[in-house]
Amino acid sequence: MQPDISVQNVSKVYSGGFHALKEVNLDIQRGEIFALLGPNGAGKTTLISIICGIVNMSSGRVLAGGHDIVTDYRAARSKIGLVPQELNTDAFETVWDTVTFSRGLFGKAANPAHIEKVLRDLSLWDKRNNRIMALSGGMKRRVMIAKALSHEPQILFLDEPTAGVDVELRRDMWNMVRGLRDNGVTIILTTHYIEEAEEMADRIGVIRAGEIILVEDTDKLMAKLGKKELRLQLQAPLEQIPGALALEPLSLSGDGYELTYTFDAQQEQAGVARLLRQLGDHGIEFRDLQTRESSLEDIFVGLVHE
Ligand SMILES: Nc1ncnc2c1ncn2[C@@H]1O[C@H](COP(=O)(O)OP(=O)(O)OP(=O)(O)O)[C@@H](O)[C@H]1O
Ligand SMILES: [Mg+2]
Repeated sequence: MQPDISVQNVSKVYSGGFHALKEVNLDIQRGEIFALLGPNGAGKTTLISIICGIVNMSSGRVLAGGHDIVTDYRAARSKIGLVPQELNTDAFETVWDTVTFSRGLFGKAANPAHIEKVLRDLSLWDKRNNRIMALSGGMKRRVMIAKALSHEPQILFLDEPTAGVDVELRRDMWNMVRGLRDNGVTIILTTHYIEEAEEMADRIGVIRAGEIILVEDTDKLMAKLGKKELRLQLQAPLEQIPGALALEPLSLSGDGYELTYTFDAQQEQAGVARLLRQLGDHGIEFRDLQTRESSLEDIFVGLVHE
């Protein structure tokens, strides 16, 4: 199947000479929820802005809904809805007017029934005649989403939709996003929150310093996480791991005082018992031990600092 979004060798050098994206390649399928995860300044907003036609790429090619975003700009743009990271709406307009106007920008015929549905779905219906300036921050964010959905896009970008949003609105948003996906909308969201990516996304892409360093099904990524670690602080430092233990998934800290044993959290604990027995056999004594489970957070931090 042809991907809904195809990013091919996209690079971006900003006018000051800063290299914000380096040869990014990414395909996103119709109807999937894709989370782009990365630290501040990684290039998430830059990538989204390029696909949405707000920022020009320096080189490469992007197709959205099958349309080249440069040579077939209008067709591509009409398929896309964007909820930007920064809130920017006219404070003096009413919710209804703002959202209706957004639809008009895409040259779509008026459709009050659709606007009503969007506002109801986002719990904004009661506020439809309020000016934007009279709304709370979370409500303003909902208005941004309503605007992005006003022209019935096939692809929706959410750039950090839940930054500064309370738990309840976050839940509402997640439900709304799932509902859209169930209606065949392709969704790309950026986030710093690993739990959010984990909870929402079918696939996760990790971006760091302008490069996509990992793209994986969320399930597979989580399976990799089913790892546990046993750490043993030794009485006396080891110079190296004894030969008989060489086949075990063991690592030794630089100072020789800590052994780390990695095992699958799903499996029974036989490995741990065996290891402890073997350590005893080799006269390796420890003064303390801990186990811990690695999380997506660990993987993420590891990848980002690698
Ligand atoms: N208009 C611009 N001119 C020059 N550099 C820019 C411009 N916009 C962004 N950058 C730089 O490009 C890099 C990527 O920025 P971008 O906004 O894409 O990051 P991000 O991943 O969205 O970060 P955040 O999580 O903070 O939103 C940053 O180093 C930023 O300073
Ligand atoms: Mg950003």
